Amino acid sequence: QERSYVMVKPDGVQRGHVGEIISRFERKGFQLIGLKLFKTPKELAEEHYGELKEKPFYGKLVDYIISGPVVCIALEGPGVVASARKLIGATNPLNAEPGTIRGDLGIEVGRNVVHGSDSPENGLRELGLWFDQDELIEWEQHMTPWLKE
Ligand code: GTP
Ligand code: MG
Repeated sequence: QERSYVMVKPDGVQRGHVGEIISRFERKGFQLIGLKLFKTPKELAEEHYGELKEKPFYGKLVDYIISGPVVCIALEGPGVVASARKLIGATNPLNAEPGTIRGDLGIEVGRNVVHGSDSPENGLRELGLWFDQDELIEWEQHMTPWLKE
């Protein structure tokens, strides 16, 4: 089963959008397998965005991610990585379609409310960074027959 790491960034938490954001993924039909409010250590933020180390905005990005608590979300389901990215919308909220999380809730690339893994490989990598093994829960979702053929 494919898994994705999704995170409500500090602006999303501060603005009171945690419930709304989790709700969008639940509504779509993805299964929650991990969930926590978390104060991010700087080293973790740096490692999570390690691929962007050379970007001019990297320092500000790390400061943004550690500026307050985040909500860590682990999701499972068919095609969850690409689908979550679609629900989240384009990186810059001004380019994100209305109906997406960023399109509905943001105006600025440096405050874009939510993160989603960009490949199944990165999904597993990021879940390993943000969750301990015993924080990911395997459970039988009883609505599965109503979601999957
Ligand atoms: P994530 O889901 O957070 O990984 O966003 P993304 O995959 O849509 O974009 P990307 O991985 O390329 O960039 C990671 C994060 O860096 C973005 O979500 C933004 O918060 C930030 N970022 C990207 N580009 C810019 C930029 O040009 N300026 C600033 N200030 N931040 C940027
Ligand atoms: Mg990314």
